[in-house]
Amino acid sequence: GDSNNGDGAAPQDILAPVLSAFWDQPESWTLDTYLRHDGYEGLKKALAMDPDDLIAYVKDSGLRGRGGAGFPTGMKWQFIPQGDGKPHYLVVNADESEPGTCKDIPLLFANPHALIEGIVIACHAIRSSHAFIYLRGETVPVLRRLHEAVREAYAAGYLGTDILGSGLDLDVIVHAGAGAYICGEETALLDSLEGRRGQPRLRPPFPAVAGLYACPTVVNNVESIASVPAIIHRGKEWFRSMGSEKSPGFTLYSLSGHVTNPGQYEGPLGITLRQLLDVSGGIRAGHRLKFWTPGGSSTPLLTDEHLDVPLDYEGVGAAGSMLGTKALQCFDETTCVVRAVTRWTEFYAHESCGKCTPCREGTYWLVQLLRDLEDGKGEMADLDKLADIADNINGKSFCALGDGAASPIFSSLKYFRAEYEEHITGKGCPFDPARSTAWS
Ligand code: NAI
Ligand code: SF4
Repeated sequence: GDSNNGDGAAPQDILAPVLSAFWDQPESWTLDTYLRHDGYEGLKKALAMDPDDLIAYVKDSGLRGRGGAGFPTGMKWQFIPQGDGKPHYLVVNADESEPGTCKDIPLLFANPHALIEGIVIACHAIRSSHAFIYLRGETVPVLRRLHEAVREAYAAGYLGTDILGSGLDLDVIVHAGAGAYICGEETALLDSLEGRRGQPRLRPPFPAVAGLYACPTVVNNVESIASVPAIIHRGKEWFRSMGSEKSPGFTLYSLSGHVTNPGQYEGPLGITLRQLLDVSGGIRAGHRLKFWTPGGSSTPLLTDEHLDVPLDYEGVGAAGSMLGTKALQCFDETTCVVRAVTRWTEFYAHESCGKCTPCREGTYWLVQLLRDLEDGKGEMADLDKLADIADNINGKSFCALGDGAASPIFSSLKYFRAEYEEHITGKGCPFDPARSTAWS
């Protein structure tokens, strides 16, 4: 790409592969390969630690949840009440489904033992002997690979009874969901895991207090848990040497869309999209970045003015968006923003679980208005109507799905109102006038 390359001397220096360090090796997913790369070394160290000290260690590392919200992982573990006589559960959220988000599935496929080792460490910390992995059901090859890795771990004594002679007993159950986006919302996930229809529960109580089967439960994202072994093995200072004070460590960035080389790029938090485009070959040749999402479609979109925003929670927040899942979807100047937003909104309308009115009804009406606009049947008043409906969803819905649906509406109107207006004055999509009946 010609447009977005900076002048850094050695762009590859910004990358820091940890979880992805040996993905390119043959059979990277096997226990043998994992053991050749310091696999289960963190676990040995963790099992020798007192659970409370282990929680404090992860808290001090500054690790923040990689599922999108960035909640401090150690703090979440600390919320689990101790000595309460109830079972404690760890549930790994592997129901990755946010449009553009594609890091956990490749991670599980290429390096499942990082997750399993992280699970054992986390269960020692929160005093749990039952962990569940709730996996996106459509990913059958990943499901098979995960089952095989769990079987290997049992056979080698990393799971089961008296793990490595520590006295810790732990069973891991891999559960495949049935492909509903809402089941990635942590409380809907728990309902689904319990065998009910997946719909969000009221929070509080948070799962840490009353989660799976009403018992204290930690729900963590795949990448969060898989990052723990390296933190224990290589030290919290090493982890903190990357990123910033408030957003330390390494993370997976997923580049997709109109880029020369889409894929997973692992590096410290706080690097920029410009740097990532430099390392990866940039926007496809001859084109320019128009807009992008920092963390999937639920995070307000940004433009080419935001190429130097530090990709950490604070930096992206200051730019008016959210880091989310670090799913960097890039769109060049050939993309109609109204069409992209329509497509996302159709997704939210389809995936709305229907429990609350603002989201169930609002996403439906957003889709009707957007299709009319894209079809050239819109009026100027529709733009205020769009904002008004989004406003009635945002902050007024039962769960984060509603807010997520409102976010591309607000941000596209903020940066590309003129493009919406062009659809109205030109009575059709300026990018594809021939496609006027596309929605019928
Ligand atoms: P949240 O900020 O409400 O909660 C984050 C985590 O912290 C949850 O596990 C919650 O239980 C815990 N927590 C928060 N306050 C707590 C308290 N006072 N006590 C105990 N625990 C507490 O965010 P939410 O609604 O869970 O998730 C929204 C995020 O999900 C968004 O940022 C979005 O980026 C991300 N997302 C990710 C998707 C994916 O495919 N990975 C799909 C859709 C959204
Ligand atoms: Fe269901 Fe949407 Fe309400 Fe969430 S916001 S509970 S997905 S209807």
